[in-house]
Amino acid sequence: LNISLIGVPLDFGQSRRGVDMGPSAIRYAGAVGRIESIGHQVTDEGDVQVSAVERKKHSDTNLKNLDEVIQATTELARKVAEVVDAGRFPLVLGGDHSIAIGTLAGLSEKYKNLGVIWYDAHADFNTAETSPSGNIHGMPLAVSVGLGHESLVNIHSEGQKVKPKNVVIIGARSVDPEERQLLKEQGVKVFTMHEIDRYGMTSVMEDALAYLRSRDVDGVHLSLDLDGLDPLYTPGVGTPVPGGISYRESHLAMEMLEDSGMITSAEFVEVNPILDEKNKTADVAVGLMGSLFGEKLI
Ligand code: ARG
Ligand code: MN
Ligand code: MN
Ligand code: MN
Repeated sequence: LNISLIGVPLDFGQSRRGVDMGPSAIRYAGAVGRIESIGHQVTDEGDVQVSAVERKKHSDTNLKNLDEVIQATTELARKVAEVVDAGRFPLVLGGDHSIAIGTLAGLSEKYKNLGVIWYDAHADFNTAETSPSGNIHGMPLAVSVGLGHESLVNIHSEGQKVKPKNVVIIGARSVDPEERQLLKEQGVKVFTMHEIDRYGMTSVMEDALAYLRSRDVDGVHLSLDLDGLDPLYTPGVGTPVPGGISYRESHLAMEMLEDSGMITSAEFVEVNPILDEKNKTADVAVGLMGSLFGEKLI
């Protein structure tokens, strides 16, 4: 593969500062070398520009730092579209999960029937109305299917970027009451921790991939929130939830995605070095990239 690494040092999608240092932490953990050693060609495109200070313009909404998120995701969408256009594989490093608004917007230019695997403790399917926090990192998936503040929904192009029925969530264990309702209405496929415990990761991933194949997708984006894993393995995240996916299950999931040959882009988000233990979470992210891009033990 020809991979383009794009950093997005954005921490305005949630309330704990520090996740803007995620891209540096992941680079420091050796992402480029690790992927190159598998035999891929990697170009580090550097970071998307993010405004440094909070302004306050939109007063019509409870969304926090809306203008900063609009600015960064608009620029990211442009960059992702450019990378895809050049026939390269976009690998986006967050930043908080609100950046997925930009990634998916950029991808939607080429992929008209994109599948999404959302590996996360959360569904990130809130709107301004259903959100308990006003944090935009709890909304990117809803925004991408066309639900939410119009200034976010219309980033890069008008309206829906991904069909809700083309989305599979894996690892969910913290979903807000109205968010849950919205997921059902929209027909998003959700594999919670219950399914992972009950049937095992192998079966969950087989089902997820078969489902996306049945949807006839023209590409699959992996959006991996490090809080999908148990905080035991990835403590450096802003919204940890106990009872998560294990380290081994996560590697297995990445290996199965690699074996499927279906993944056309990926992002790793929510690494917060301030909350981390000796860059453990970034190290795990880079290890998972190794499996996703085909590292073999033997
Ligand atoms: N559901 C909560 C909210 O909307 C938490 C979202 C956490 N999202 C994340 N990307 N870590 O505020
Ligand atoms: Mn900051
Ligand atoms: Mn999450
Ligand atoms: Mn998330």
